Amino acid sequence: MVDTAHRNTGVEGVAGGVGVTALLVAAARAIETHRPDSLAQDAYAEHFVRAAPASAGWPVHLREVPDGDTNPLWGRFARYFGLRTRVLDDFLLQAVHAGSVRQVVLLGAGLDARAFRLGWPPGCVIFEIDRGEVLAFKHQVLGGLSATPKAARVPLPMDLRDDWAGALPGAGFDPAAPSVWLVEGLLFYLPPAAESYLIDTVDGLSAGGSALAFEVKLDKDLLEYRDSPLYTSTHRQLGIDLLDLFDREPRPDSAGDLADKGWSTAVHTPFDFTRLHGRGPLPEPNDALAGNRWVFADKPPRT
Ligand SMILES: C[S@@+](CC[C@H](N)C(=O)[O-])C[C@H]1O[C@@H](n2cnc3c(N)ncnc32)[C@H](O)[C@@H]1O
Repeated sequence: MVDTAHRNTGVEGVAGGVGVTALLVAAARAIETHRPDSLAQDAYAEHFVRAAPASAGWPVHLREVPDGDTNPLWGRFARYFGLRTRVLDDFLLQAVHAGSVRQVVLLGAGLDARAFRLGWPPGCVIFEIDRGEVLAFKHQVLGGLSATPKAARVPLPMDLRDDWAGALPGAGFDPAAPSVWLVEGLLFYLPPAAESYLIDTVDGLSAGGSALAFEVKLDKDLLEYRDSPLYTSTHRQLGIDLLDLFDREPRPDSAGDLADKGWSTAVHTPFDFTRLHGRGPLPEPNDALAGNRWVFADKPPRT
């Protein structure tokens, strides 16, 4: 269906390719969890990091980083992921506690442990889509911890470059009931056709009253800040070349496409939330975060 020939298909699971980015976010969440002024708590994150050979030597606490907060990767970039985690935790919890939304869909879920760590109302079902080997690693670690989800959880091993629209209804998702969707740290790895298909699919499966949050990078940001300390330190310290993993084709205007479909949208910079919470990254020169946008979209209830 959509383009499946893409360079980050080479490595499955969390050992490398795009899957290893799930470990990068997990390490950042572990560090955030241990901060005295933590924005988000994820007790599972450090277990993922320790369990994978690719990341077993990475820090899970800022005290393990010799230059601490001045380290661009484990200081500022990790704090970015901590802030993102908090903001999107709040988004999901607000959606399910405010009304009748009981279906939660995490696309590119990676090592997101929200099903296990957040307080969900009774009747919630959390669908998690990621590639099979990433989910298998996640289950191996969570199984070893005897972790128990705090809501019904339905993992769906799928490649989001394939035709995945039928997987959710086939797994018990009800398109007639409202839902909340999260696309965190995923879209810039997908070819534009897969992103457009994802947005169309979310719209098609969303009843009125549904909500969606996703992260994009402005086109110009993809390569403009190639010398940003966030990219160069991630490459130098971990061997992860994020720019090589990003899809570099022109991006669709997904926020605009949703607005055309009748959704109301709000587009924020991460820095908006740094100011709100009084913690997190602020703009700096040559900044890989300059083009990151967090989009929050609501589908109006049917009248
Ligand atoms: C940066 S991680 C983010 C994971 C999670 N959303 C979080 O924020 O912790 C990107 C995730 O997207 C997943 N991903 C990338 N391309 C994918 C694809 N084509 N199909 C399914 N998952 C994909 C990766 O396996 C990885 O888990």
